[in-house]
Amino acid sequence: MHIGILTGGGDCPGLNAVIRAVTKALINECGARVTGIERGFLGLLERRVRPLGRREVSGILHLGGTILGTHNRADPFRYFGAGGADCSAQVMDYVRELGLDALVVIGGDGSMSIAHRFQELGLPVVGVPKTIDNDLMHTDRTFGFDSAVAVVTDAIERLETTAHSHGRVMIVETMGRYSGWIALEAGIAGAADVILLPELPYDIEAVAQHCRERETAQGYTVICIAEGAHPVGGSLQVQAHLPDSPDPLRLGGIGTVLQQQLQPLLSSEVRSVQLGHVQRGGSPTAFDRVLATRFGYHAAQLVAQRRFGCMVALAGDRCTEVPLADVAGRNRTVPPDHPLLQAARGLGVCLG
Ligand code: F6P
Repeated sequence: MHIGILTGGGDCPGLNAVIRAVTKALINECGARVTGIERGFLGLLERRVRPLGRREVSGILHLGGTILGTHNRADPFRYFGAGGADCSAQVMDYVRELGLDALVVIGGDGSMSIAHRFQELGLPVVGVPKTIDNDLMHTDRTFGFDSAVAVVTDAIERLETTAHSHGRVMIVETMGRYSGWIALEAGIAGAADVILLPELPYDIEAVAQHCRERETAQGYTVICIAEGAHPVGGSLQVQAHLPDSPDPLRLGGIGTVLQQQLQPLLSSEVRSVQLGHVQRGGSPTAFDRVLATRFGYHAAQLVAQRRFGCMVALAGDRCTEVPLADVAGRNRTVPPDHPLLQAARGLGVCLG
């Protein structure tokens, strides 16, 4: 058995832990040959591969990033970008040349969509859900999310002490694309006073009123806002910073927009911090190391049992799998009746 493995899309803590688990389990339990594909699907177009053995994956569990490299715009079905050429036949030729029996794709929704299309072309695939955004369908968790939440929580705590000292309103903008999972969990863990999510368009006057009340009572406010958040009736321009927005300049961020909206309404100074890729870098938390290892092991088992066309998933505390067709091209946002939203409301956190 000869298995290819690649990491696609944006990087995320825990990728190496999955690569290690898949490789070790396939070698130990199936005697498989494992080939690493470099820079995501780009490696299958540019013919960049390398053998993975026990030695290559030793000592990488705790490392951030991906030893294989990744690329988040390399879709062989439209190479590069919308309207790009369909190079999937070229990829299939190379897969046959390599003698790959199956592919393990570690990635987010974009990679799962590509994986699904290759599965339909006859290449057996198993997917492993990766993203700090935690926005993949039919899995309770993706690895990388816990690590990102830990970074943002720490940042909120640090910003709280300086906001307190200076009597400021500090805005911290998180990643998460069109979902608010990171901002919600980290906002609660870091005790943010205001949490703004894409799922609940905010009312600027309600946010300002909350800050004014705190100006009098506590003297400072910490606001945690997800990058995809927008005001009630907000236009696409407000979201122009998102990676797949039509605006190639990615103007500012919603944190800056909020700062400009709030400043004229308050007497205290308003400052904004965009955490950016700090949330994606560095070592995975213990939780993510364990989850990534469990996902990798489960993926190897699916390969061994020749159960393809699915993505590993977490249901409660159980590793399971879901059809790639159910995951491809879909995202999981925070439902309006989510218990964490209710808890935040109950604690008096302003949700806009
Ligand atoms: O999907 C992960 C993520 O980090 C998002 O939270 C963010 O919007 C995007 O990727 C950033 O992508 P890039 O690294 O291409 O700017």
